This record gives sequence, structure tokens and C-alpha cells, in this order.
Amino acid sequence: DAELAAQGEKVFRKCKACHQVGEGAKNRTGPILTGIVDKAAGTVDGFKYSKPMQQAGADGLIWSQDALAAFLAKPKSYMKGTKMSFAGLKSEDDQLAVIEYLKSFAD
Ligand code: HEM
Repeated sequence: DAELAAQGEKVFRKCKACHQVGEGAKNRTGPILTGIVDKAAGTVDGFKYSKPMQQAGADGLIWSQDALAAFLAKPKSYMKGTKMSFAGLKSEDDQLAVIEYLKSFAD
């Protein structure tokens, strides 16, 4: 849904301090988010993840839309010890919109 993705682009302003997505994206404070939907957690090349994020990926965590929504709602509750220092997106609409925006970038 293009309208939802456009809404999500605005929500993504909150993520941009740490994350890039799309053509020319680089790892910064946070990993590149191109192709993150349905990708295994903790597996972006060249990014140094926290132990819990590496473990979650090794244990099989896939960033499904549901998993992403839960993580983005409250990162530090969803994953104890994550180094993503972000309070979270309280609004379910914002969670869905930003996920739709992320989905618009192919791997
Ligand atoms: C990790 C999304 C905001 C820093 C992640 C991951 C996702 C994500 C999906 C997991 C990546 C993977 O497994 O490869 C988002 C979104 C944000 C946001 C959608 C905005 C709504 C932020 C902000 C910061 C940040 C503001 C910095 C203050 C990080 C870091 C990690 C991470 C450091 C790695 C976590 C770890 O290794 O435990 N983010 N993020 N993120 N993010 Fe964010």
C-alpha cells in the first residue's frame, strides 16, 4: 500500500539518526535496513551487533511483520540487552506504516 508506505517514510525520520535504507545505504550507529522484512535478525554484513541480537538470529528469529512490530513497540522489552537505544513506537499505526515503508525496499 503506497499511501501507508508514504506515511511510513515520515515515521522513519525517527530512525534516520541511526539507520539508512535503500540505494547507497551504509551501516551507521544501526545496521542498514534494506531488505530487513523477513530477514534473519543480526545478519547484516559488517555490522557489529549486541550479543542478544546475534543470539536471537542464531536461534532463528526472522523479522516477520509481527516480530518487527513487537520489537519496534518497545525494543528493550522485546530484546533484553539490545543496543538499539530507542524508546519505541507506541502507535500501532506508526509501526505498521514504517514496516510498509521498509517493505518497499527490495534486498
Ligand atoms: C537494530 C529498526 C531506530 C539503533 C535494528 C533492527 C531493526 C531496527 C529492524 C534489527 C536489525 C537486524 O537484525 O539486522 C529500527 C527502526 C527504527 C529504529 C524501524 C525507528 C522506528 C533506531 C534508533 C537507533 C537505532 C533511533 C539509535 C539511537 C539500532 C542499533 C541496532 C538496531 C544499534 C543493533 C541492535 C543490537 O545489535 O542489539 N533497528 N530502528 N535504531 N538499531 Fe534500530
